[in-house]
Amino acid sequence: MAASRLRLENRVALVTGASRGIGKAIALAFAEEGAAVAVNYAANRRLAEEVCEAIASAGGRALCVQADVGVAEQVDSMVSQVIQEYGRIDILVNNAGLLNQEPSLEATGEGFDRMVDVNIKGVIRCAAAVAEGMKQRGRGRIINVSSIAALGTSMPGVTGYAMTKAAVNMFNRRLARELGPHNITVNAIAPGFILTDMSREGARASGTYVDGIADRTMLRRVGEPADIAGVALFLASDDSSFMTGQVLTVDGGRIDYLTHSV
Ligand SMILES: NC(=O)c1ccc[n+]([C@@H]2O[C@H](COP(=O)([O-])OP(=O)(O)OC[C@H]3O[C@@H](n4cnc5c(N)ncnc54)[C@H](OP(=O)(O)O)[C@@H]3O)[C@@H](O)[C@H]2O)c1
Repeated sequence: MAASRLRLENRVALVTGASRGIGKAIALAFAEEGAAVAVNYAANRRLAEEVCEAIASAGGRALCVQADVGVAEQVDSMVSQVIQEYGRIDILVNNAGLLNQEPSLEATGEGFDRMVDVNIKGVIRCAAAVAEGMKQRGRGRIINVSSIAALGTSMPGVTGYAMTKAAVNMFNRRLARELGPHNITVNAIAPGFILTDMSREGARASGTYVDGIADRTMLRRVGEPADIAGVALFLASDDSSFMTGQVLTVDGGRIDYLTHSV
């Protein structure tokens, strides 16, 4: 039997929003499987450094890179820094995202504009910044973190957010078609309720009872960031080579999704 290889050996990954929550879990999982990981953050430098230190102390390679993905110049500078350090980017995880809650008919103001900038345009900017290099090498993986909110299930007050994630799903499909001939796969993950700062704050602000979500979930629990990291690892690895344009729902089996009720 051949000696087992790490699943992301000799790969370079950029994970946006990796200072905490889902992005952090993805960065740690990728590093454990041998990838050199660029850990992006917007404001929490200390937390991002802790992620990089955890990777380095386990014998891996990591680089902290600041960038607000809502700002084009910062995305370009982030990608340049990663390429300068590691030579290329093989895997992009568009995970950075933001949730502003407001009633549906108020989703026209600054809160919505900011979500469009980060959740939609940030995803497009980061993909654009890495795609050319991937095309030249004839290989690449782009993973977009969407949400079950885009599929119809969510807490109250997240119409604007849900619309931005629905846009991500459509971008995911369109981009997969354009990049497929270059052997670049583009897939999305639509997480359900995953315990992070974002979901805790969202549940608090909307008066959502977290145990109630677990009751409406087939597996009878809410998710942990590691539940998403495992699926991201699959999408980044050779195991998913013949999959593209897909949105994988990872929500523990939400029953309220099946009935389209909130
Ligand atoms: N948690 C859930 O239940 C859930 C469900 C469905 C989908 N999602 C999606 O999963 C992704 C991660 O969510 P999470 O729950 O892990 O969120 P989180 O705990 O709030 O963490 C957000 C991460 O994104 C970074 N970030 C925020 N705005 C950014 C920007 N403009 N530019 C660069 N980085 C930025 C943050 O960096 P700083 O630490 O520097 O602020 C942090 O690392 C998001 O796209 C979210 O929409 C989450």
